[in-house]
Amino acid sequence: MTQQPDKPASSTPAEGTCPFHSAAPLTRRTEQLSKTGAAVELDERGVYRVHDFQAARDILRSEDVRQAGFMAERATQMGSLEQQPVLFSEGETHHTMRRDTARYFTPTSVAKYQPMIAGLADELVGELAAKGEANLDDLSLRLAVDVAAQVVGLTSSRLPGMAGRITSFVSGGGNSEPGAAQNQSKAQALKQQANLALFFALDVKPAIQVRRRERRDDLISHLLDKNYTDVEILTECLTYGTAGMVTTREFISVAAWHLLGSPELRSEYLHSTEKVRFEILHEILRLEPVVSTLYRRAEQDIDAGGTLIPAGSLLALNIQEANTDEQTVGADPLAVCPGRKLPRGVQAPVLAFGDGSHRCPGAFLAIRESDVFLRRLLIWNDLRVVTPPTVEYNEVIKGYELRGFRVALGG
Ligand code: HEM
Repeated sequence: MTQQPDKPASSTPAEGTCPFHSAAPLTRRTEQLSKTGAAVELDERGVYRVHDFQAARDILRSEDVRQAGFMAERATQMGSLEQQPVLFSEGETHHTMRRDTARYFTPTSVAKYQPMIAGLADELVGELAAKGEANLDDLSLRLAVDVAAQVVGLTSSRLPGMAGRITSFVSGGGNSEPGAAQNQSKAQALKQQANLALFFALDVKPAIQVRRRERRDDLISHLLDKNYTDVEILTECLTYGTAGMVTTREFISVAAWHLLGSPELRSEYLHSTEKVRFEILHEILRLEPVVSTLYRRAEQDIDAGGTLIPAGSLLALNIQEANTDEQTVGADPLAVCPGRKLPRGVQAPVLAFGDGSHRCPGAFLAIRESDVFLRRLLIWNDLRVVTPPTVEYNEVIKGYELRGFRVALGG
């Protein structure tokens, strides 16, 4: 479904609060908002829809639920993999996987990628300047794919075009909400399978071969040390491809859209310290969470927001609403207001990177690479929007997709 892009709406700043208050969410899905104002609602399909922050965070932190999003239930039921990808694992196995791979995402590790990210960002902005015009969503895809590829070790591809092979997994239709009607045609399903085979043959297999001969400091090398099979490595690469590349691409686009729509915010962003720049990016992400719904399956009876949820129930956590819950984020929850005073223990992006055991390991990397690119892009005074993006929703990721975001430089 396509939504007409709104312009960032103006609203009057509340007295004594931040000076920006100029932008409202650009990607909010109104049809999914709470109908009764209750923290938790049971819908006609028997899904418990969770709308407020506290209940959503309690569920994400609970040990009595398991991952039910991103087709996890279908994938784990197939049961052909001994090692499930990190996103679908739970308990001690999951904990060990996270502990073993945490070293790829620490600030020190991420700092190693800084020259590579900066070089790539310069190249992309240079290309835009040379051509005069480009789709920002194409540039953000190339950045997000190349950066995550370094961490994962997908750097030995036989042919260019890995970005297209990865995005094809999420763009082929389908709905990842358990039990939802599927809108994927047979042809789309077959095409997806063919793409998976190509991704394996052209990107994953060559990376494995190179690292079998000599290990490197990346995730594939680590998985080889842990005796993962080729198919298990493929699934983990897919997880990182979709979780890390597709999401970061969308975030960079939405952040650029906000910053280009507000000269004051853009100027503050460009002239501030890293701390303030990150606050601005986190605040935009709070308002525009790329993954708007997270799913969990209750394994025991649980209490969420005062509602008793019976074991076996499906929980759909609305992150857009949780992140704009006035009780947690304070006044003007729908406005961009960096540096909000949040309750102790609540981080600036609120639940946009999830919470609990599955919280995004790539959060710091995503913000760092976005910052490196956006600074280089937005510093150009003559950068302008030619066509704002259309906003569509991807039912596999459960998030927005910004496309056709045409920008021009110079001329
Ligand atoms: C702005 C960009 C990003 C956003 C908004 C984002 C968002 C998220 C969210 C919400 C989750 C939790 C899913 C759940 O609890 O069901 C998650 C998990 C994950 N993300 Fe990110 N992510 C981003 C960037 C990245 C990057 C750059 C990487 C790696 C290169 C990455 C790798 C992962 C992985 C592996 C998981 C699964 C973790 C687990 O299940 O233990 N993400 N991400």
